[in-house]
Amino acid sequence: MSIYILGIESSCDDTSAAILKGTHMLSSVIANQEVHRKYGGVVPELASRAHQQNIIPVVEVALQKAKITKNQLSAIAFTRGPGLLGSLLVGTSFAKAFAMGLRIPIIEVNHLKAHILSHFVEDEHQKNHPEFPFLCLTVSGGHTQIVKVNSPADMVILGKTIDDAAGEAFDKAAKIMGLPYPGGPEIDKLAKIGNPLAFSFPEPKIGELDYSFSGLKTSFLYFLRDKLKVDDDFIENNRVDLSASIQHTIIAILMKKLRMAVKLTGINQVAIAGGVSANSGLREAMKQESEKSDWKIFLPPLKYTTDNAAMIAVTGYFKYLEKDFAPQSVTPYARGGF
Ligand code: KG4
Ligand code: ZN
Repeated sequence: MSIYILGIESSCDDTSAAILKGTHMLSSVIANQEVHRKYGGVVPELASRAHQQNIIPVVEVALQKAKITKNQLSAIAFTRGPGLLGSLLVGTSFAKAFAMGLRIPIIEVNHLKAHILSHFVEDEHQKNHPEFPFLCLTVSGGHTQIVKVNSPADMVILGKTIDDAAGEAFDKAAKIMGLPYPGGPEIDKLAKIGNPLAFSFPEPKIGELDYSFSGLKTSFLYFLRDKLKVDDDFIENNRVDLSASIQHTIIAILMKKLRMAVKLTGINQVAIAGGVSANSGLREAMKQESEKSDWKIFLPPLKYTTDNAAMIAVTGYFKYLEKDFAPQSVTPYARGGF
């Protein structure tokens, strides 16, 4: 019998629904919330309201595109956390009510595990996936972790950021330069035509496989403050080189610890996941590493890098196989790892 999983993702500012048949993607629909752009960041209250408006239309379109009826669904998987509580509540409540009406189980999914398992969604753009165990660098707006993935259920965090996430480093640097939110993709675009060695910024000295990005943001801010004292147009005149240089530094920091993790574990299958895994510089650095060493790399298709519901559905599918269902009393959580 075919297993159809509806995935719901509402942890931040995208309302998404996806339907998978096994691990095969039938549909994936995302309603982006443009409302936050003018505020330069996500406004939680507006995000919850937009989820409330979008969730039913998004699920309806996902069902239409998948060409199945709601009665064919085997289970509903939803993001339980971490994320914005008001946003998570919308997806969680919707999943509970819809599943109760359909008399099917609900499956709670950890957003960070789902980013990692997005590598297992099959479609025309993604046919291969890593074998267990593999390493995954999860880099998003809220998290930066090196994870040893033993199985869909067994993941061990080997290192993580002690302060800002890599995505935050991109977003904060972009904000300092007056670029629109989210800043990561903006910096990526500008960096393509800039000189990555034009300016240098200090890398943090932090032990083991952990990361730290808050010092970089501060040194970037002070560097620009000093330059602006003597040249009002310094940012305008150097935007591409500043973007290329800050991106170069963030990637150097990320890759250094990832190399250490490969050495320490002896695992050479290396994946990246999360919003920042869309970054063209990071993808290029991974390719170069795989050419000069024996890494087997896995770069997700761009549509599976940022938040999406296909990754929630595939994680739900693995849990479905284990009959790992959630009770109707389940509540979302804003913080925490896995
Ligand atoms: O995974 P995600 O969509 O949401 C979270 O769970 O946080 O990640 C969003 C983050 C933002 O910080 C955004 O600026 C960053 O991913 N991002 C990028 C790129 N695309 C998205 N950062 C650098 N380069 C990109 N191309
Ligand atoms: Zn995410």
